[in-house]
Amino acid sequence: MKAVVLVGGEGTRLRPLTETIPKPLVPLVDRPSLDHVLDHLARHGVHEVVLSSSYLESTFRAFIEARHGDPRITWITEAEPLGTGGAIVNALGAVADGPFLALNGDILTDLDLTAMVAFHRERGAVATIALTHVEDARPFGLVPTEPDGRVIEFREKPTEPVPGDVNAGTYVLEPSVLRAFPVGVPLSIEREIFPRLIAEGLPVYGFRSDAYWLDLGTPAQYLRAHADLLAGRVAGEPAYAAPYLAEGARVHLRARLGKAVVVGPGASVGPDAEVDDSVLLAGAAVEAGARVVGSILGPRSRVGAGATVIDTVLAEGAAVREGAELRGGRVSAGAVAP
Ligand code: GTP
Repeated sequence: MKAVVLVGGEGTRLRPLTETIPKPLVPLVDRPSLDHVLDHLARHGVHEVVLSSSYLESTFRAFIEARHGDPRITWITEAEPLGTGGAIVNALGAVADGPFLALNGDILTDLDLTAMVAFHRERGAVATIALTHVEDARPFGLVPTEPDGRVIEFREKPTEPVPGDVNAGTYVLEPSVLRAFPVGVPLSIEREIFPRLIAEGLPVYGFRSDAYWLDLGTPAQYLRAHADLLAGRVAGEPAYAAPYLAEGARVHLRARLGKAVVVGPGASVGPDAEVDDSVLLAGAAVEAGARVVGSILGPRSRVGAGATVIDTVLAEGAAVREGAELRGGRVSAGAVAP
């Protein structure tokens, strides 16, 4: 089995962190989130993966060179962003010798991919979409199914907070039906490809599961993923210490760290500083007496002594002045706040 992993989004919701790091390469505890995705694929017998993007491509090259072992990676550059569907159609040549997996590269899940592929084959589906149940479908749009799993339709995002099954961003696809779509043209798999397959009466199925599932695309969800990983809620992932201190992290004996905290490689927390529900990426510094809660501190960013930083995202190299107070802040790469 082969897989296409979509890594070409701009990651606007995770800005300003994604000003300098593509979303799939933002670290999740100890390694880029894309490593977690690729390791999950390898655990389910996927040995060949196509990554495709047009965005910050040079950064991915370093990632691919640094990564060893399973699965083997083929890279495809999109001349222009082709969208979630166009990217998959564009990659058909590299995967299409049978059904293949396609995944959003920004999802943390322990979904049983082996069972999903078996379900796809048993149903004789042309496309199988992993579904996850949410209490509020407003950000997603609903995917109602028949009792045997056949997808009835793709519904627009509801305006009221209704519960239901939503597209979990993992698919098993038959290349034959995708060949009907034009190559090199932007297409959305959710809004154009799946609705058309359903309208043509082709067998599109939904694979429901209660697997762990989280879209890492917003700061709040990115932090939640860390809390869940450190609490051991994601199957197949390492048993991390909580709080997690990476190699070279320096935490002063008089600093206070909550459990859902990651102090990245070379990052530091000074005396009498307090950090909770936060991630400090490589080389970030929290100086003496500062308080950091619910925040993401980008690589080599700095929170000055005595500052208070809450629900904030600092991009790479950003800084917060000594004694300042920042709530819900977004500080661009290299900028100083306030
Ligand atoms: P936001 O801008 O914050 O919405 O993030 P995003 O750009 O990543 O968009 P979204 O989360 O909707 O994308 C879903 C998945 O598809 C992610 O894994 C993206 O990396 C990927 N993706 C989105 N657009 C493209 C594209 O044009 N090409 C490729 N190869 N992947 C894409």
